[in-house]
Amino acid sequence: MLLRTLAFAAVFAVAHATAWAQPIVIKYSHVVADQTPKGQAALKFKELAEKKLPGKVEVQVFPNSQLFGDGKEMEALLLGDVQIIAPSLAKFAKYTPKLQVFDLPFLFDDIAAVDRFQSSPKGRELLDSMTSKGIQGLGYLHNGMKQLSANKPLRTPADASGLKYRIQASDVLEAQFKAVGGNPQKLAFAEVYQALQTGVVDGTENPWSNIYTKKFHEVQKYIMESNHGLLDYMVITNAGWWKQLPADVRKGLSEAMAESIAYGNKVAFDEDANFRAKVIADKKAEVLPMTKEQLGQWRQAMKPVWAKFERDIGKDIIDAALAANN
Ligand code: LMR
Repeated sequence: MLLRTLAFAAVFAVAHATAWAQPIVIKYSHVVADQTPKGQAALKFKELAEKKLPGKVEVQVFPNSQLFGDGKEMEALLLGDVQIIAPSLAKFAKYTPKLQVFDLPFLFDDIAAVDRFQSSPKGRELLDSMTSKGIQGLGYLHNGMKQLSANKPLRTPADASGLKYRIQASDVLEAQFKAVGGNPQKLAFAEVYQALQTGVVDGTENPWSNIYTKKFHEVQKYIMESNHGLLDYMVITNAGWWKQLPADVRKGLSEAMAESIAYGNKVAFDEDANFRAKVIADKKAEVLPMTKEQLGQWRQAMKPVWAKFERDIGKDIIDAALAANN
């Protein structure tokens, strides 16, 4: 009798615990389209995390600034209203000046060089550079090199003078456009299409995946193949929330994150040329190549920006980034 009662109690306890154990809800919010490297990485993270931790986590992905746009998402992360975001590296200056290294114009030769720097000890260190502010970096994620666009061809820096440019919230990018006589304006990503369409700004800069998926090429006459700067991301979480997770959940999420980033990076490498081809095929904007000489002029005009931010960023970090080019 006693045994039967104990057995019944045990079965009841298990059923009860199962019925009441709710999965941990993880909101992953971002500002771009699902088809982009970041959009694809977020969806892959959901798939992998839920597979590795069945019943323990539920990942909700919110693309296109649906939940939080620029300007609000970082605050929301710190308040615990969202658990994972992946802002562009241009959007962290309020939390650490060091990540501004990624905005310096003409610093990296290509994404392979960026990858080498991000994987180096100095690059890895930067993932922990905001923990005192409550932000934990989980990994870097690629998008691609930026292309300049405007309603007139921007062949030389002189062509850029007097035009208004939408920029991300970055003082380095502000200095970059001022260096060529432009008027930069910080605007949230969700406002870019309308700002270009209505002439609030004349031009902007973004990688091919963002240009195509947000139709910027439909409201810009020319896109210059400038590859003059980088747009990559850091996937981050709330450091306090991350620490209090059960160890097995944190382990499963770390693995899912690493694999989803590898997947997103593959999309970035493989699809950049395809997004470029789609923009060209649409025939809405003219895509103009730039000569070595033209790019040399841009590089020379924008180079003083490096010295301006060297103290904030740290010469050691800039040197390590440069060393990754070889
Ligand atoms: C932008 O604001 O242009 C980008 O940071 C958007 C993004 O997340 O790729």
